Order: sequence, then C-alpha cells, then structure tokens
Amino acid sequence: MLEIVVCVSGGGTNLQALIDAVEDGRVANVRIKGVISNNRNARALERAGRHGISSCCISPKDYESRELFNEAFLRQMISWNPDLIVLAGFLVAIPEQMVREFADRIINIHPSLIPSFCGVGYYGLKVHEAVLKRGVKVTGATVHFVDEGMDTGRIISQKAVSVEEGDTPEILQRRVMEQAEWILLPEAVHGIADGRIAYGGKRRQAE
Ligand code: GRF
Repeated sequence: MLEIVVCVSGGGTNLQALIDAVEDGRVANVRIKGVISNNRNARALERAGRHGISSCCISPKDYESRELFNEAFLRQMISWNPDLIVLAGFLVAIPEQMVREFADRIINIHPSLIPSFCGVGYYGLKVHEAVLKRGVKVTGATVHFVDEGMDTGRIISQKAVSVEEGDTPEILQRRVMEQAEWILLPEAVHGIADGRIAYGGKRRQAE
C-alpha cells in the first residue's frame, strides 16, 4: 500500500480527482494519509473532511520566519511518514530539506507542457494568461518529480490540450483541468503504486 500526503492551497479539484479515483478503484493500493494546506480557507480542506481524511493547515503567515515554517512543515510531513508527497495546486515552495529528505518521492502537477510556461511566476491563472498572450495553439499539463529547482524535475507524464478561439484564461484553465490534470495526476499515482513508474522507494519503517 502506497501511503500519500497531498499538499494543497485552494479549490482542491485535483485532490478530489485523486480521492474519487482511490475510492472507485481506478487508483489501486493507495491510501491518502493526510492533506496539508497552507491556506485555512482552502475548499480542499472541506473535501478532505467530507471523505474522512486527516488534514491540517500550516501557513507561513503563522510563523515568525520562513525557517520556522519550514521546520513545522517538515515535522508534520515526517510524522505522517508518507511514501509519496503529491503537490496538487500547492503554492508554497518546498523547503530544500524536504526535497532532500523525500528525494524522488515528491510529485507535482503543473498546468502547461513543461518546459513552456513554467518556472518562477507561472502559477494558477497566470499560466493560462501567458499561453493566450503568446498565441500557442496547444497547451496541456505535466506531472513531474520535484527537485530543488522550480518545475525542473524529471517529467513523468504530459497531456496536450487545444487552445480554442475565444478562450479566456478561466475557460482554458477549466479545459486543461478536465482534459488533462484530473486524468494525469491519478494515473501517475497509480503508476507509482503499481511499480510502472520508478520513484524514490518506500520510506524506512520506524524501528
Ligand atoms: C491546478 O491548475 C494545478 O495544476 C495548479 O494549480 C491548480 C490547482 O487547482 N498547480 P485545484 O486546487 O486542484 O483545484
């Protein structure tokens, strides 16, 4: 059984896609052990609660320094001791210590075809605004491992989505979610759980 912790910041539709896929068996041998949000008002927390999943809020705003936040975040993660961390719309940079501690065991979903429209400043609607401004005809989503850089880790999977005439950032965001993100993320977790996708391996069990 692959135990995962999902980190979220907002709506939590990717979290919901994962929950649904675990509940209906499309994602097998996976347990969502906990959800961490940096935002107390995230709808994602309600979604976790409705499905009986433990959750907590750890926000940089509640700590005097980024170091203290990073420590609290890492402490919570280590106490849950997941095999895999899934970033599903998580808007906080992952502390380097966590990347080291969970090397090749953190994945992220990004709403563009990396290496286009990614890196610093490309998050949420800003990605889709930039896509429309540049006038590309195809965009999509990417699931990748997280390393020390921003959206630079090993790519696991990608799915293309058409940009249509008259798209607004909101319409395009929705299409990318429906046609790519909500499919790719559960598939990637399933692939890691069943061994098709190599990852950093299970955490050592406490002695
Ligand atoms: C998604 O577009 C995801 O790719 C991006 O942030 C958005 C989060 O949406 N990283 P939700 O919270 O899963 O609804």
